[in-house]
Amino acid sequence: MQNVSVNGNSIQVCVQGSGRPLLLVHGFPLDHRMWRFQIEHFSRSMKVIAPDLPGFGASTIENVDAVEMKSYADFLADLIVELQIESAVTFCGLSMGGYVGWQFLKFHPQLVDRVIMCNTRAAADDEATRRGRTLVAGQVLKHGVGEIASHMPGKLLGQKASKELEDELRQTIRHTHPKTIAQGHLGMSLRPDMTPLLSQIQLPSLLIGGSEDAITPSTEMQSIANLMPNAAFVDIQESGHMTPLESPSEFNQIVESFLKRSDR
Ligand code: MLT
Repeated sequence: MQNVSVNGNSIQVCVQGSGRPLLLVHGFPLDHRMWRFQIEHFSRSMKVIAPDLPGFGASTIENVDAVEMKSYADFLADLIVELQIESAVTFCGLSMGGYVGWQFLKFHPQLVDRVIMCNTRAAADDEATRRGRTLVAGQVLKHGVGEIASHMPGKLLGQKASKELEDELRQTIRHTHPKTIAQGHLGMSLRPDMTPLLSQIQLPSLLIGGSEDAITPSTEMQSIANLMPNAAFVDIQESGHMTPLESPSEFNQIVESFLKRSDR
């Protein structure tokens, strides 16, 4: 792990391997460790960059109310400069990491040459979800992360996931600062509908879903792929929202063959 300073924040980032850069962006409210099987596998042939977004994992954050997805995207662009990565990255994001990804593609398109979006959506929240997030943000700030840590891991995983994995995610959430959870929720609730961007993304793209994903359903992932000119969609069977952790071999194989197909 490296510690780098980006815009006054102390950022923990795993940089491993050499070759074309692969940027892995974690979901909410997790950190780079959710990519451990991918870091291990892809660092054999690529330079893998897996940061903890500001506030998550071991990275710090300044005191702000909500972190919009564009701010995280701008942070990633600054991180790339800080790490002196000179070629365009293969962007791979899961869920909130995908929300950040659409902003990264919109505002920093020159930094990306391939796209992998996992268990995410392009649409904005509906009104009910937005209200729910505001409520949770308030509760977490008032009462701490206990409630979200107890019920969220079950929602993230499919039926076959192990108890150990569920416990591990619970521990990660328990160690996340209430402010980060509140800021992330409010930030996600503010995110715009990115569907209009999809038809403009000409880059080779891969969409990965989990057949048991209750948070970002595969049908929605398929619709995103249908709107992108150069995208393929793969649904991993018997996997929930955390496909890279729940089905690592299958996930890595799918990504590996996409990377080979789109190699130039
Ligand atoms: C995530 O996995 O990043 C979040 O659950 C996404 C969301 O809450 O929309």
